[in-house]
Amino acid sequence: MPEEKKLFKVTIDNITTEVESGTTVLMAARKIGGDVAPPAMCFYSKLKGSGGKCRTCLVEVAAGSTADPRPMPKLVASCRTNVMDGMVVKNITSEKVLDARAGVVEFLLINHPLDCPICDQAGECDLQDLGYDHGKAGTRYEFKRRTFEREDIGPYIQLHMTRCILCYRCTYVADQLTDQRVHGILDRGEHTEISTYISKAIDNDFSGNMIDVCPVGALTDRTFRFKNRVWFTKPVNAHRDCPTCCGKVILWNRGDEVLRVTARKDEWGEVQSYDGKPGWICNDCRFHKKHIDDWVIEGLTNIKRRSVIGQGKYPGLVRPHEMLAEVMGGRKPKLVFDIHSISDVNPPEVDLAEIPGPATSETFNNNPHAYGKNITDIKIGIGPNTEGTDSTNLNTP
Ligand code: SF4
Ligand code: FES
Repeated sequence: MPEEKKLFKVTIDNITTEVESGTTVLMAARKIGGDVAPPAMCFYSKLKGSGGKCRTCLVEVAAGSTADPRPMPKLVASCRTNVMDGMVVKNITSEKVLDARAGVVEFLLINHPLDCPICDQAGECDLQDLGYDHGKAGTRYEFKRRTFEREDIGPYIQLHMTRCILCYRCTYVADQLTDQRVHGILDRGEHTEISTYISKAIDNDFSGNMIDVCPVGALTDRTFRFKNRVWFTKPVNAHRDCPTCCGKVILWNRGDEVLRVTARKDEWGEVQSYDGKPGWICNDCRFHKKHIDDWVIEGLTNIKRRSVIGQGKYPGLVRPHEMLAEVMGGRKPKLVFDIHSISDVNPPEVDLAEIPGPATSETFNNNPHAYGKNITDIKIGIGPNTEGTDSTNLNTP
């Protein structure tokens, strides 16, 4: 008979839960959910050995256990500290933790460039979210920041080391998902960097998952770089019968164009599990299946993470009543905000309000009347865009 695991009671931010012995404080806090769960920049529950590098998950242990209720003298990394029976932990209820976390963010940002406006990760960057939640408005750092040349590691991945926070997640992906690791953390201290020896290409069926686990924009998808801002794309869940991986993905579309393919993520920003197994996806699905007909579309992705990528994509979203036309005596808002007379940022012949579906790259490249014809593209006031769907994607429900 399998040995029954002992359950430990742990109280985090005044909420008590029960978890199996051997559970970390971080995973116990995730069980409670919401803001009680500390942020984690290096821990990744699907990668063995990850955690303990970034210190963003620090918590205060106010009572060690029922047997020894003394507080722990220093803040501890919740991803590396196991719960004890009767432990009392403070996360957002601790001034000390919030102060330390602000310090950690400041530390992480010492060398990180503030290039969010041009970074592909903007909108789904854990450091950006952490900065908004715990960062300070100014910097005290006066020295020159570290900078590196961008490096193509293989045909599909670009490393921009300047943005790396040395979380080690990508090295764990290479160790645990691919059959050969050719990159790693080189040097120490100020000189530490992720690199491959002699820029050896990372070429392996599952290497693309490094892009998904990278919490910042240090590892980016070369097939998607600078194609679009992520919040302008429409994420849809899709699947295919893949002989190599689970084949369950998110397509980040613009109209009918598949701009990017990623694994599906859970509310903690980690790859989703299916039947207890992480849903890593293979490079073939990620980089080579960029046509909508390659996939069976399941429907609009429900973005579980609190992030700008969920912008305008919340199910059941109720838009406030549009008042502008009423207060402007019937003048449409687009006339108020029409900037074509002062800027041709978009070609003047493109009138987004006039086309019956979402704009596509074609719209801005000499065909101002082109629009996306995916059935999941619903234009407010016009409804589902059914026209042409059958001819463009037979797999769309
Ligand atoms: S490249 Fe990304 S995943 Fe790899 S160590 Fe740096 S921040 Fe972490
Ligand atoms: S998430 Fe715990 S130290 Fe990084």
